[in-house]
Amino acid sequence: MDLGYILEIQQNIHPTVILEIGPARGNNFEFYPSNCRVIALDYNSYFEKYFRENKSKFPNILCEDFVNGRAEDMREIEDNSVDVVVATYVLCSVKDRYKTLREIQRVLKKGGTYYFMEHVGYPHTSSWHIFLFAIQLLLQPFWYAFLGGCHCHRQSWSYIEKAGFHTLDLNYEYPNEMVFIARAHIWGTATTHQSDDCNHKK
Ligand SMILES: C[S@@+](CC[C@H](N)C(=O)[O-])C[C@H]1O[C@@H](n2cnc3c(N)ncnc32)[C@H](O)[C@@H]1O
Repeated sequence: MDLGYILEIQQNIHPTVILEIGPARGNNFEFYPSNCRVIALDYNSYFEKYFRENKSKFPNILCEDFVNGRAEDMREIEDNSVDVVVATYVLCSVKDRYKTLREIQRVLKKGGTYYFMEHVGYPHTSSWHIFLFAIQLLLQPFWYAFLGGCHCHRQSWSYIEKAGFHTLDLNYEYPNEMVFIARAHIWGTATTHQSDDCNHKK
């Protein structure tokens, strides 16, 4: 699964400024509309060189900034400054999902949209899924060690649900092409409130 999968369904994206958190090598560039401005924020500066190489294949997109920072404290990004936040396969590895989602709401403009796609722990919707979740828990230490701090068992949808977005379109999917331990997926969009009164600010 990739971001294009969401955008095929959410056809109405016309952002001007996109903040992508954890872009790594910039695999999502191909899905961005022409003439948008992309700010990339990743704590791992190792990816910057590869990100810039990949970016050069998309001259229609303006990307001046590769910010070396953490999603939990995006002090480099101003309040109410971006139309869209994209984060794919990021909540599985951030240290603090609660702070990350607060920061996403802070930097989004009023009515701005957060696009997400994450592999998650199996929801407890059937005894088979509970069994698979138990396997995820067992394998988690190895997964974490081999995949540089990634968690296979995080049920991150509950953090998104509780984050206080104005609207939330949350979908579950189990793509067969993914290994079973990372097959449970969530994807969708959340929008911030139109007025300051309701937004969760620092
Ligand atoms: C699994 S990769 C996903 C890469 C890309 N988004 C994709 O969908 O292919 C996770 C990315 O999130 C970044 N990341 C992890 N924790 C982060 C944090 N706390 N703040 C910023 N970036 C983080 C990693 O450096 C990496 O680039």
